[in-house]
Amino acid sequence: MFGKKKNTPQIDKEQLELIQNAQRRIKQKKRLFAHFAMFLIGALFLILANTVLGIGKDFKIAGIEWFVFAILVWLFFLLYHTFNVFVTHKFMGKSWEQQQLDKLVSLQKARIEKIKSELKKEAPVIAESEVYNETKSSDTTGSELTIIVAAAENNAIGKDNKLIWHLSNDLKRFKSLTNGHHIIMGRKTFESFPKPLPNRTHVVITRQVDYKAPKGVIIVNSLEAAIDASKNDSQPFIIGGGQIYEQAMMIANKIELTRVHETFEADAFFPEIDLNIWQEIDNEFHKKDANHDHEFSFITYIRK
Ligand SMILES: NC(=O)c1ccc[n+]([C@@H]2O[C@H](COP(=O)([O-])OP(=O)(O)OC[C@H]3O[C@@H](n4cnc5c(N)ncnc54)[C@H](OP(=O)(O)O)[C@@H]3O)[C@@H](O)[C@H]2O)c1
Repeated sequence: MFGKKKNTPQIDKEQLELIQNAQRRIKQKKRLFAHFAMFLIGALFLILANTVLGIGKDFKIAGIEWFVFAILVWLFFLLYHTFNVFVTHKFMGKSWEQQQLDKLVSLQKARIEKIKSELKKEAPVIAESEVYNETKSSDTTGSELTIIVAAAENNAIGKDNKLIWHLSNDLKRFKSLTNGHHIIMGRKTFESFPKPLPNRTHVVITRQVDYKAPKGVIIVNSLEAAIDASKNDSQPFIIGGGQIYEQAMMIANKIELTRVHETFEADAFFPEIDLNIWQEIDNEFHKKDANHDHEFSFITYIRK
């Protein structure tokens, strides 16, 4: 019934910035090291150029060899570079790296804590809904209390205590859905049958205290008592007629409707289906044919 979110590893902006800083820092240090190496080679070359090759042998500044000045100037730039890397950029060597690492770790910890607290909040709701579902599926008062009915466009269902039409596929569907189950009905509907239907437990509702019925038929004095008598059935059916449907609409979980696409004169009617309460989940249209004088649709509703 509840979408599944795709889990993609996420790095937020702040973390990305920290990683980029660390990379930049490594590059800076590498460059400084290269500069230092170049300085050593360069200084050696300048000394050799002057002393061995005799380049600018006679050129002195304040009595000091020119290459000494050149090396000092370069050394100044090297020190400036070093200062920039270690001081101007406020991040300092290993301690800075550790600091960044600590920051990353604390960010991850905060995120884990947040997820944990969200889970704690959701857990009772999940548990509650699981308990609800379990209770629902093991509800002995009939969690799948299902109304089964054939009604015309004007909700007509019967006249003179008889059905108005004969639709062979509707009867087949009624038989297959209710087979093996309790069928709950009003006294008048019961009396409209020539005899009890096979392989179903009949529960008949009447206000009469001494109502006589064939063996095996359960007689009760209210709809509640009928549901109670069907408590061992996972899907008892309310099969009519008008009076019983009216009362059962408030407590049923499902409606299996055969909508006959015509209007008929009648004296028993099915209540209006309120689409704010009921959700259509299945709809199967059938045309007229040799066995069916009317167009009809099998429609299933569940309580929202
Ligand atoms: N198209 C379909 O799917 C479909 C299905 C079923 C029936 N039908 C038709 O519907 C018509 C019958 O419907 P209906 O409304 O006239 O009668 P019904 O609902 O079948 O039976 C009414 C009787 O049930 C008893 N009853 C009702 N509420 C009760 C309560 N709260 N406590 C105790 N007993 C209660 C009363 O029996 P007592 O008078 O004995 O006290 C009442 O007279 C027939 O034409 C039948 O063919 C059509």
